[in-house]
This record gives sequence, structure tokens and C-alpha cells, in this order.
Amino acid sequence: MSAGRDLLEHNRWAWNRDSAARRRWSVPVESDVVVRARRDDWQVILTPDTAVPRDWFGALAGARVLCLASGGGQQVPILAAAGADVVSFDLSDEQLARDAEVAARDDLRIRTVRGDMADLSVFADASFDLIFHPVSNVFVPDLVPVWRECARVLRRGGALLAGFMNPTFFLFDHDEAARTGELVVRYTLPYREGGTDDEIAQVTTERRAQLAAGDALEFSHSLQAQIGDLLAAGFQLTALYEDRWTGASTPLQARMPTSVAMRAVRV
Ligand SMILES: C[S@@+](CC[C@H](N)C(=O)[O-])C[C@H]1O[C@@H](n2cnc3c(N)ncnc32)[C@H](O)[C@@H]1O
Repeated sequence: MSAGRDLLEHNRWAWNRDSAARRRWSVPVESDVVVRARRDDWQVILTPDTAVPRDWFGALAGARVLCLASGGGQQVPILAAAGADVVSFDLSDEQLARDAEVAARDDLRIRTVRGDMADLSVFADASFDLIFHPVSNVFVPDLVPVWRECARVLRRGGALLAGFMNPTFFLFDHDEAARTGELVVRYTLPYREGGTDDEIAQVTTERRAQLAAGDALEFSHSLQAQIGDLLAAGFQLTALYEDRWTGASTPLQARMPTSVAMRAVRV
């Protein structure tokens, strides 16, 4: 799989497929969740299990919120029902369709925009008060443009809430580990499923078959890329927690938290 447009088109197709099948990240919330959110009784996740602390959001009524790579009918309608003015921006037509379906069903105002998180040029500078970005940068090869664009479209003092995978997750072949129950270090980081032949040399035959069948291409990112490059883009970190992933079939999930949520403010 080569870099650039092929990669984006592959992941668009992969996520459309997953979303149409209503897999884990594409199951829209029921109406009762929206009703409760309208009464200010709500929670959302950036990482698989743990709800984001409510004080990370500040006042949501009328806040201009960009849900970045967060389609699927989950967080977007909840934040809209809680009073935010929400734009859902996602690569996948189907993931955006899930948000639009909930909006139509429950009479919510949500704007959907399709595109790549590394290019937010459809939005003016400082056009959002908050960016909500659940674990999804694992699907892009380079975080520098993502953080740069987040810094540009967020107003000064606005907050970015982002989830990401701990890079050590990518040291292991989790299919193998699920079969054998053993965690054996198989890969060198960064692990990349797209790019040059050298970059994808580590990808196993089994994994190549899964990608050809429709799995999205994934990329590990160092802590320097996740946090150092974010700070360099003009953010200050204000809070962070780690999370487990109880639904994951890998034995690693019993050994360590595999994801991270962070709150950063545009300075
Ligand atoms: C794990 S899902 C996150 C959505 C979900 N609602 C959640 O609960 O976390 C990852 C999302 O990233 C989106 N995505 C993948 N690559 C993207 C890209 N380059 N730009 C924007 N969105 C992307 C996918 O379409 C998918 O909706």
C-alpha cells in the first residue's frame, strides 16, 4: 500500500465498510441517550473504556465544537444534545451518515464534513472553541499536520481533547498473542502499514491479507509525536489519563493501559 491518496482512499473504504456493518465504533446511540444528554446527563469517551471528566469540556451551551475523526453516531449527537454547535469531520462517508441519521431521528442540528484530519482548510482560523478527537490518529502516517491544523482552527484558550494509542501496543503481533497467550516483541517502532516498501517491510502476510480484505491501515506514533509535536504546535498540556481496553482480545490489555487521553489548551 503506497502513501498519499491511496492510503486515504483505502482507509475511507475500510471505514465505510466497518461502519455499514455497524461495528464497535459505528453503533449509533439510542434516542434515550440523546434525551438524557438534553437534560445535561451525559458522558463520552476518547479512549475505549473510561468516560472523559466533564470538567475537561467547560460550558458546552453554544460552544463551537469540532468532532475530529469522531463519526459513527456516538459522541457527536451527545455533544450536540448537550447544547454544543457541532461539526463532525471524518474521512468516512458512512461514519458521517451515522451522525446524520441520529440527527434526523432526534431532531439535532449537526453539520457533517468529509475530509482528512491533516487538512482542515475548509475551516477558517480560530473557528472552534473545542476540538474533540477520539483515538483515530492511528490511521494517519504523520501527526505534524494534524496538530498544526488543530492549532490553526482552534481559538486561543480553546481546548483540544484527544485520545491516542500507547505506541508500545505496536511492538506485538496481537493476532499471534491472542492465539498463543504469549506476548513476544515482533516489531520495531514506528510500526507503519503504509508508505514505502521499507516502511511496510515488517507487516506480516496474515496482516497483509487482513488489510486487503478491508482493515484500515494503522501507524504507531511516538510519545514525542503525540505530545512533543503537539506542544510545538502551540498547545499546553493541562491533563492526561491512561485507559485500558477491556474489549480487546490481546493479552496485553491485562498487562498495561494501552491508550491515553489528554487535554491541551491552545496558547
Ligand atoms: C475509532 S473511530 C472513532 C470514532 C468513534 N465514534 C469513537 O467512539 O471513538 C476512528 C475514526 O477515524 C476516522 N478516520 C480515519 N482516518 C481519518 C482521516 N485521515 N481523517 C479523518 N478521519 C479519519 C474513521 O472514519 C473513524 O470514524
